[in-house]
Formats: sequence, structure tokens, C-alpha cells
Amino acid sequence: MTVVSIRIPAKVTLFGEHAVVYNKPAIASTIPVFIDITGRKLDDRRLLINLDGASVQIKGILFDRISGGHTVLPDDNYLSRFTSYIVTGLDICEDELKINRSGYEVSIGSSLPIGAGLGTSAAISVGTMAMCLALSTHYSTDDSHVKKMVALLAWKTEQRVQGMASPMDTFTITYGGIRYIKPWIPDTEILNSTNKFNIIVGYTPKRYTTAELVKKVKNLRTKEESVMNMLLDVVEKIVGEARDAVVHGDAEKLGILMNINHGVLESMGVVSLEHSYIVKILLAAGALGAKTSGAGGGGAFIALARNREHAIVLKNIVEAFGGKVVALELYEKGFTVSYRE
Ligand code: PMV
Repeated sequence: MTVVSIRIPAKVTLFGEHAVVYNKPAIASTIPVFIDITGRKLDDRRLLINLDGASVQIKGILFDRISGGHTVLPDDNYLSRFTSYIVTGLDICEDELKINRSGYEVSIGSSLPIGAGLGTSAAISVGTMAMCLALSTHYSTDDSHVKKMVALLAWKTEQRVQGMASPMDTFTITYGGIRYIKPWIPDTEILNSTNKFNIIVGYTPKRYTTAELVKKVKNLRTKEESVMNMLLDVVEKIVGEARDAVVHGDAEKLGILMNINHGVLESMGVVSLEHSYIVKILLAAGALGAKTSGAGGGGAFIALARNREHAIVLKNIVEAFGGKVVALELYEKGFTVSYRE
């Protein structure tokens, strides 16, 4: 029976998160941190999810001091949110291919906690879709028609699970590299830079889900529509300027734009206290720019260093303040697929 392995990179948002939900452009990139999904079909209709090497949240462990046995107490809320991307993705894939419901064994390995805010839920959606299509159609990673289908159907999965989602994460993770996102099509464009940027991507614990944070911004927009619309226009302008700065390799300008974008995210109420500190500390240590990246509420952040050595200094500072650093460079590829009989 065919076994399919999908290697999916995580992503970082450089500019334009939240505004992209309102059809504004954004810039995101894959990073060299991976989630691996391996899958095969089963003869019955069960779905078995192995979480070997994936760090997921549980509520606790019940230890029986007489028998020595223990029971893992699941964090039902978290686990059902996490599995819903897989279940929904498989449903959408089978409906699209007009095939009967099948059983699957899916194994997930991840060095990132699922839900850390580096596009991990989008990575699960992309990986599930890429796996399901591979088990039925045996395509190659370079097949542009299948890639488009994976990006669109993984986006549909995110929308169905979260209620509201832009195509940014699923398209970036599918295609890879630094991507200019055009949600109104939806499509993306690769931005080839003359410079290799020295970045620091890290995260702190994320206190809210992406769906909750998207809703928070939506509520603010309902209350203060014209002010919020002006902020969204500001983000659009930042993204336009950042697009040119990426292409021309202008790190100084990108840093300034990151700081302005971070200020807008503060105004939208999605920056956590830890991130406010970390961003200020990084700037005091000479970073060209720093910002919350993605939905916020803790989660991911990105900073721009002056050179590789400076990036390592900034990494040490972040870690001293309790943040975790996962990448010091961007990545140029999207997901890949391989087969084993
Ligand atoms: O934090 P993440 O990686 O889940 O990114 C969310 C990005 C948002 O713009 C806030 C939402 C979206 O759907 O684009």
C-alpha cells in the first residue's frame, strides 16, 4: 500500500497580517522549520493520528500509585481544534475528488508546538490536502495544477475550521519563498531579493487562537469602522513600500517599515505584553526593526539584524527573556511530496 510523506515548512508573516483578512496585500515567507506528515489509507473508515514527535497540549496525567499505570488527560478543546484541520481537510479533499470516505493513518512530526503561530495550522491543512491528493493521484511536487488545488483547498479547510481566514498562510506554505499575497484573486507572487536578510524568528506562548484574534480585530472594526479602515489602508501602503524594499534588498527601510507595522498591530490590540517588551529590547540592542508576526496574542515575532553575528547576539537576548528562536533565515521552498510502496 502506498505511503506518502509530505514535508511542510512553517511560515512567518513579514508585513500585513490581519489587514490581509480584509483583502489587503501582505508579505510572508516560508522558514526552514518543518512539520512532517506521513499517511496511508486504511481498509476501514477509521482515522488514526499518531503524534510521534509532535508537541501537542494535554491537560494532565493521571497516575495510579497502586498499579503504576497512567492515563493521559486530553485537553479536549485543543485536541479537537487541532484534529479538525485534518478531519475537515480530508472531507474537503474526498468531496472535491468525488471519492468515497476512506480510513487513514496519519503520522505527524513537528519541532514546533502546533498552534505556536507560525502557520502551523495552515501547515497541517496543506499537509493533509497534499497527502490526500497524493494518495489518489500520485502527482509530483512540481505539478503546478495540483499545487494550486492544494493551496485553494487548504485555504477552504482553514476557512471552514476558523470561520475567517485569508489565503496568506496556505498559499505561502504551498509555494514557498518570500511571497507577495494578493488575497483578492487569490494568488501570490515570488519576491526575489538582491539581499539575504538576517532575520530572527521566534515565539512566546500564544494565549489566544488565531480565530479569536481575527474576531477581536473584526469587533474593533465594527465599533470604529472608519478609523480601522484608515489603519488597513496604512498597512496596504506599508506592504507596497516593503515589496520594493525586499526586491531592492534594502534592509534599513524594511526595518523601519516593520516598526511602523508593529505600531499598527499594537493599535489593533493584538500585541501581547511580552512582545511589546521583546520588540523594545531588540530595538535597543540595535535591531533594524522588529514586530509581532501573525495573529498576535503572544505567538510569533520577527526582527531584522544588521548581519549574521548581530542576529546571533539578538537570538541570545531573546532567549534570555524567555522567548524561543526557531530560525535565523528565510526558506525558498514550499511543501514537498515523496512516495514509498
Ligand atoms: O498567527 P498565524 O500564523 O495563525 O497567522 C494568522 C494571520 C492572520 O492574518 C491574522 C489571519 C489570516 O487568516 O491571514
